[in-house]
Amino acid sequence: MKKRVKAAILGFGGIGHCHASQYAGLKNVELVALCDINPEQLNKASETINLGDSGAIDLNAVRKYLSYEEMVKAEPDLEMIDICLPTDLHCEYSCRAMKDGFHVICEKPMALNSKDCRKMIRVSEKTGKKLMIAQVLRFCKGFEAIREAYNTRKYGKLLRLSMTRVGGLPNRLWFRDVKRSGGAMMDLHLHDLDFAISLLGTPDALISFGVKAASGGIDDSVSNYIYENGPVVTSEGSWCRKKFHAVAAAVFENATLEFEDGALTLYRVDQPVETIDLGEDKPYGAEVDYLAECILKDVPPLRAMPESTMQTVRLIEAEIRSAEAGGKRIRLKK
Ligand SMILES: NC(=O)c1ccc[n+]([C@@H]2O[C@H](COP(=O)([O-])OP(=O)(O)OC[C@H]3O[C@@H](n4cnc5c(N)ncnc54)[C@H](O)[C@@H]3O)[C@@H](O)[C@H]2O)c1
Repeated sequence: MKKRVKAAILGFGGIGHCHASQYAGLKNVELVALCDINPEQLNKASETINLGDSGAIDLNAVRKYLSYEEMVKAEPDLEMIDICLPTDLHCEYSCRAMKDGFHVICEKPMALNSKDCRKMIRVSEKTGKKLMIAQVLRFCKGFEAIREAYNTRKYGKLLRLSMTRVGGLPNRLWFRDVKRSGGAMMDLHLHDLDFAISLLGTPDALISFGVKAASGGIDDSVSNYIYENGPVVTSEGSWCRKKFHAVAAAVFENATLEFEDGALTLYRVDQPVETIDLGEDKPYGAEVDYLAECILKDVPPLRAMPESTMQTVRLIEAEIRSAEAGGKRIRLKK
């Protein structure tokens, strides 16, 4: 049987469970261990996050640990650590794991600020260990369909991209502290900015408006990314709404693709709305499998290079500056 990379999940909370439930059947990676400082988490076969239920996990098929140190000591064959910790721990544990000889996939946002992202990249370069941030929209079939239509121009030029991602304040307490989560702009809205720049590159300028709410950071915002001679791009994000809702609408010259809460539709003037079958979509599995494939082939993770996910954090910092200055237009370096 082909070699598979042995991986462990560090942080078995909401998103740790979502990752774990999608490892089964992956070609390039196998999950061998789970680690969480909270023993209750290690006994939960499923979890609920804003997207719904994580899916079930076979807890008997993996070894479980209560600390990072204990796990790495007991698992000599471990090659990759899948970091699903609260955001304020991303930089510390990514650097530590790479220095200890592991490749790292780390949840988004890469870190709370671009200085820490830079540090993570330096450690990856120095240790030769691969680092990839799990910017999941880059691996999500609905967003990939928009990317494909953009690249092939099958519906003509992209004229407008509108993205919305809103919901309530997450119930885990650390999210409610801007110093730990970055607030909704850094935590939630960042997904859509990341997709926009992975598709279109860094905008020429941006303008954001936002309000500070329960986290102490900007928890409700709307941004305009200005691409001179390019599409009109806007994005809205919030932790101040009653229910999770995400939609991306890509308006091309001859059709509109709309990906709404997991369903993709194609709208064309005077034609019936078409629902596009995306098949099974397991983006959390797809991203870990992709990094494992890059490890096995020893190639860089081009779909989500750490420099590009650092740029996402840098642009969120610019959006926060713009919003705090009441919607100041900020010119951006390419
Ligand atoms: N990609 C997505 O769609 C998505 C969705 C939700 C969360 N996230 C991101 O994932 C990260 C985790 O979010 P979450 O919702 O799973 O949070 P969570 O609080 O549910 O889970 C974090 C887990 O880490 C554990 N933990 C804390 N310190 C630890 C340590 N030192 N060692 C081992 N375990 C430790 C906690 O006990 C907890 O179970 C955040 O950065 C968040 O932004 C991403």
